Amino acid sequence: MKVTIKKTNRLEGKIKISGSKNSALPILAISLLTSKKLTLTNVPMICDIYHMIEILEYLGVKVKVNYEKNEVTLKRRRLKNKLLLNATTKIRASYYLYPGLINYHKRSHVLLPGGCNFSIRPIDYHLELFRKTNVKVEEKEDGLSFTKSKLRPSNFFFKTPTVGATINAILQTVLIKGTSIIHNQPLEPEIEDVINCLNKMGAKIKIKENMIIIKGVRKLKKVTYQIMPDRIELGSYLLLCSAIPSKVTFTNIEEKEFTYLSSYLDEQKINYIYNKEGLTLDTSGKLNNVNLTVSSYPSFPTDLQPILCASLLVANGTSEVTDHIYPNRISHLKEFEKMNALTIYENNKIIINQSTLKGSTVYAHDLRCGFALIVCAALSEGESKIEHFEVINRGYENIIPKLKSIGMQINENLLK
Ligand code: EPU
Repeated sequence: MKVTIKKTNRLEGKIKISGSKNSALPILAISLLTSKKLTLTNVPMICDIYHMIEILEYLGVKVKVNYEKNEVTLKRRRLKNKLLLNATTKIRASYYLYPGLINYHKRSHVLLPGGCNFSIRPIDYHLELFRKTNVKVEEKEDGLSFTKSKLRPSNFFFKTPTVGATINAILQTVLIKGTSIIHNQPLEPEIEDVINCLNKMGAKIKIKENMIIIKGVRKLKKVTYQIMPDRIELGSYLLLCSAIPSKVTFTNIEEKEFTYLSSYLDEQKINYIYNKEGLTLDTSGKLNNVNLTVSSYPSFPTDLQPILCASLLVANGTSEVTDHIYPNRISHLKEFEKMNALTIYENNKIIINQSTLKGSTVYAHDLRCGFALIVCAALSEGESKIEHFEVINRGYENIIPKLKSIGMQINENLLK
């Protein structure tokens, strides 16, 4: 899929922020851990969620989707013990299905997860955490085989902050008798959303200092749960607006969803107010150079790093960005170059010089690289074409209508 974007001089209007992709994915997988009905609201209707639903149905979960209401109802039936569906290899989050399968079956077999490969993304922490709870994990040519003995609680210490393995440790131990503790993990809001949903279902999970303490319960009960707003979607649009004169209001969010970005907005002297209607940004599009390090929550998130780099191409002077989570997440830089951007990558640091951007044909390597290219295209003289746009649709609900509604000239090329 190819999309054309013309230079944009002003953005104005309203955008409704969707539910969070990265918390909806593991929360959908909770349906494997209970035979009771799980109803989820504010679920973003995007490809990654459709892949997850397809896999859950294949495994034996009855799923009803109300697309207009963004609602999904799930009820587990008899589960297959082999996950051999191709969709598994299309999303990273398919590893959230492993605890449910391990819990249900003595032996199970799964394909490896796929998803955005912007960097080397090992799953060793996940395999290690299953082993610690007394699961034999065998790495085979066509995936992984799990054999469980009597599951036992455990203490988990991950070498680096990890969202996925922390959530999987919670899903894996929530039904194991005894107390499990995850040590030293920053609490990303998406992890907290998973904990809140599980606690509403009767789980006993507490957050104390920098520990997550899980007291295993026998079963989880029926619940209706609302997925948190997507703070990364919000951050993506905020960064786009920061670089173009804009007056845009974002609805369906709470103040806590953007506090992690407020110090950046303050540093850039960007006007914003939060009230009953939502968050309104009133910007001149003028940015100053920054020196910023991307790290785990509550720091600036890695998922916004490519988009931040795009916006800084029009900032005064030279900026420096270092990504501590994925230092090699740089596929956007070679695409920026096609638009005349002046960036250098050395010693794990991205150096961004103020550039006069020119429209070009570029390729979206992954979801966030793709949004970064949208920002570049809006800032470039003339017209740009983004190829492989479908990868952006994977994670941003209704992105083309949303961008059009605030005045961006964006159109899908229906002719090849
Ligand atoms: N890591 C390991 N071994 C593991 C797991 C992680 O070495 O077994 C390392 C990674 O290589 C990385 C660091 O730990 O250096 C953090 O990785 P993390 O586990 O947090 O990544 P993830 O859980 O696989 C989630 C999001 C990503 C987001 C990262 C930010 C989902 C489905 N994915 O990935 O989202 O970039 O956390 O830490 O929640 C996106 O939305 O575009 C996206 C890629």
